[in-house]
Amino acid sequence: MANNQPCREDLPEHIGIIMDGNGRWAKKRALPRKYGHREGAKAFRKIVEYCDKIGLHYLTVYAFSTENWKRPKDEVDSIMQLLEQYIDEAFDHKNESDGVRTKFIGDMSALSPVLQEKIKRIEALGEGKSGLLVNVALNYGGRHELVHSMRALAEMVREQKIAPEEIDEAMVSDHLYTAGQPDPDLIIRPSGEERLSNFLIWQAAYSEFVFMDVLWPDFKPEHLEEAIRIFNQRHRRFGGI
Ligand code: IPE
Ligand code: IPE
Ligand code: MG
Repeated sequence: MANNQPCREDLPEHIGIIMDGNGRWAKKRALPRKYGHREGAKAFRKIVEYCDKIGLHYLTVYAFSTENWKRPKDEVDSIMQLLEQYIDEAFDHKNESDGVRTKFIGDMSALSPVLQEKIKRIEALGEGKSGLLVNVALNYGGRHELVHSMRALAEMVREQKIAPEEIDEAMVSDHLYTAGQPDPDLIIRPSGEERLSNFLIWQAAYSEFVFMDVLWPDFKPEHLEEAIRIFNQRHRRFGGI
């Protein structure tokens, strides 16, 4: 069951993870990159399970960016296939991860009709549940998301539902894919890279960042605990003193 653990006071409300380093993991073993993605998918499943167990409320993982289409077709295809598999397995084990809700954030229109259909079905499975919400960022880009929000607001102005001067931060947030969710408190990036790569750029305004040297396929619950421990030592000021 999700979130039936005693409430852990040290837990952030929302954790974001940039699941990076799959390619390097494979390269180190002289394997094709797709094997790195396969191991990365296993690490992802374990982390979702663990986050559910400890009672986390929101987890957002970066699975595929709007820029990742630049990669060879073969690699892109293998990532999409792993996502399909993940959804299929989530259905097969739906009783074990009872409360977990999965939501996909990003532009789904570019995905195959089969994957789009699976996404709709897995999202529907989570309706009415209140456990861990996992946002899978797929064909996601923070800039794209902001353009999407701005277009929706522009449309409202055109239809004279709102005046331009009424547009405020809350309205922009309400038109992002993460509408209604709290901003990430903690963003973790494994693999040694220290950048956002277009992940949740609006929502990360006051997030704490933890960069770790481990490659994503080697990322274990212990690494997540270490990141939470570091997060709890930070002093968040939000512009105050
Ligand atoms: C992250 O691992 C997965 C995706 C971006 C889809 P990478 O494939 O970027 O791994 P590295 O950074 O090349 O090691
Ligand atoms: C970010 O990683 C995207 C995901 C992890 C899905 P990249 O590997 O694409 O980012 P860059 O190219 O190193 O910035
Ligand atoms: Mg990378």
